[in-house]
Amino acid sequence: MCGIIGYVGPQQAVNVIVEGLRRLEYRGYDSAGVAVGADGRIEWRKKAGKIANLDAELAARPLPASTIGIGHTRWATHGGPTDANAHPHLSADGRVALVHNGIIENFALLRAELTAEGVAFSSETDTEVAAALLGRALARTGDLAGAMRRVCSRLEGAFTLVAIDAQDPTRVVAARRNSPLVVGVGDGENFLASDVAAFIEHTREAIELGQDQVVVITADSVEVTDFAGRPVGTKPYHIDWDTTAAEKAGYDWFMRKEIFEQPRAVADTLLGRYSGSGELALDEIRIGPDELRRVDKIIIIGCGTAYYAGMVAKYAIEHWTRIGCEVELASEFRYRDPIVDANTLCVAISQSGETADTLQAIRHARDQGSRIVAICNTNGSTIPRESDAVLYTHAGPEIGVASTKGFLTQLIACYLLGLFLAQVRGVKFGDEIGAVMDELAAMPPKIQRVLDGADDVYGLAHQLIDQGDYVFLGRHVGYPAAMEGALKLKEIAYLHAEGFAAGELKHGPIAIIDPGMPVFVIVPPAGRDQLHDKVVSNIQEVRARGARTIVLAEEGDTGVDAYAEKVIRLPRVSTLLQPVLAVVPLQLFACELATALGNDVDQPRNLAKSVTVE
Ligand code: G6P
Repeated sequence: MCGIIGYVGPQQAVNVIVEGLRRLEYRGYDSAGVAVGADGRIEWRKKAGKIANLDAELAARPLPASTIGIGHTRWATHGGPTDANAHPHLSADGRVALVHNGIIENFALLRAELTAEGVAFSSETDTEVAAALLGRALARTGDLAGAMRRVCSRLEGAFTLVAIDAQDPTRVVAARRNSPLVVGVGDGENFLASDVAAFIEHTREAIELGQDQVVVITADSVEVTDFAGRPVGTKPYHIDWDTTAAEKAGYDWFMRKEIFEQPRAVADTLLGRYSGSGELALDEIRIGPDELRRVDKIIIIGCGTAYYAGMVAKYAIEHWTRIGCEVELASEFRYRDPIVDANTLCVAISQSGETADTLQAIRHARDQGSRIVAICNTNGSTIPRESDAVLYTHAGPEIGVASTKGFLTQLIACYLLGLFLAQVRGVKFGDEIGAVMDELAAMPPKIQRVLDGADDVYGLAHQLIDQGDYVFLGRHVGYPAAMEGALKLKEIAYLHAEGFAAGELKHGPIAIIDPGMPVFVIVPPAGRDQLHDKVVSNIQEVRARGARTIVLAEEGDTGVDAYAEKVIRLPRVSTLLQPVLAVVPLQLFACELATALGNDVDQPRNLAKSVTVE
């Protein structure tokens, strides 16, 4: 959601910025713009729609040569996605250009104050209000960093602000509160961006910024202060993602590429965490064993796909640790006065590490004394920074808005965490942990086998393209897997899809089954699982009402054949781990169907990769 970049250095700023914006496209946006400082003036171009529109504008009206600039991809909140509302915004005197991510909650009050003083606004945005305040403060102080600090003290809400001053072509100034911002440290050039993808082709050295900090970059310096102007220490880190990981590598969509990367992503997430001796080594969990043994409740928090990963985790963690485990949507958690205390372990799952609801939820849990473990894919992001411990998933950059490898690696991290807690608490012995770890280690080739059947799933997508509604059913861990399958179809195919607990079928959902409606059913492993036969009965029930049944069942489970229009085979695994395989054909199905419908699979309408506002 909203991508930001700032640059100062020897290169042509407009090129660096537009290229950076392209790499931030995946965050979701509906307009884009760029501003540079040249000859004591700010020059800018901005357009509604995709970056291609900005490219065309820049081709028609090129920007002057400049080595300093800022750029923005906007995901509309205050005011529709128009040229006028696109960023950058200028101060009333045209001296300052500003881009912003977040929501300034007291903007109406501030706008009224400025309007009363005679300031005229050309957009409906909260950002233009901040630009006006910044221009006014700069006129008084002559120092952009000081002006930025002064403005920040007046703003409420979440914001990353990045600005340049027409009269100072050497520095970019930024501020951050509850919205992402990282510094890219180059050789004779520096960058500011919402995430490292924007500058990874220029440098792999970065600096994390904390809350309520102001940063000033020049071509060869980075200075960070708090909002009061006191210098603060910085935390540099090296970005170990390789640049090609963010390229499509011959695939039509990042999402499809990311689906096919899952065997490697799962293997990487397991790497180095189990020695084979029966002992899980999660050094990252820097919470002492005594404290972990005192935990009497686990609350898992996430949004979207991460929430469904949490639902799967609940089954596994409760089963292995025997600690009560709740799963909660982050957006609901904070506002219901949850019962959380020092003996509660809060597990926050977030691919991006920047989701505003999840961030606010962990802050709330922490305020109640709870310890926080983050499961996250993005080094240096805010949620891990604000957690007591972090278990990184090693999926590599996930660009497609609809999460795929993010989900599978979150599942793996949840399994690891559950086993680790069981180990620390002494409720699982080395051989039991070793057996699950061996099964996890065998997952990558099994995922690959599912991927090898992609053509079959693609064929199904083309057959089922013209249906209005899609139902997904599962029990136990198959239930969240069904929800995730439905979510993929909603997100990228814009089709009505619902995931239900198969046991609930007769309590309502069966009423919507029309003849011809596609119903996907995830069947638990045969023979070893008591729920298998119940799910097979559910298939018969929907089949009897004319549904087209697409059954995901394990290899050799012939018991389902008579009731299935189509069977998708899954390699044998134990029940708790089955979602790692069952979700893959559902990802492939959604990706192919959305492609056939002509949708933008990587950047679906209305959605953002990283939802940085509540
Ligand atoms: C957005 C994305 C989803 C993602 C969710 C949570 O809605 O479009 O794909 O599952 O946010 O994101 P997070 O980064 O916290 O996992």
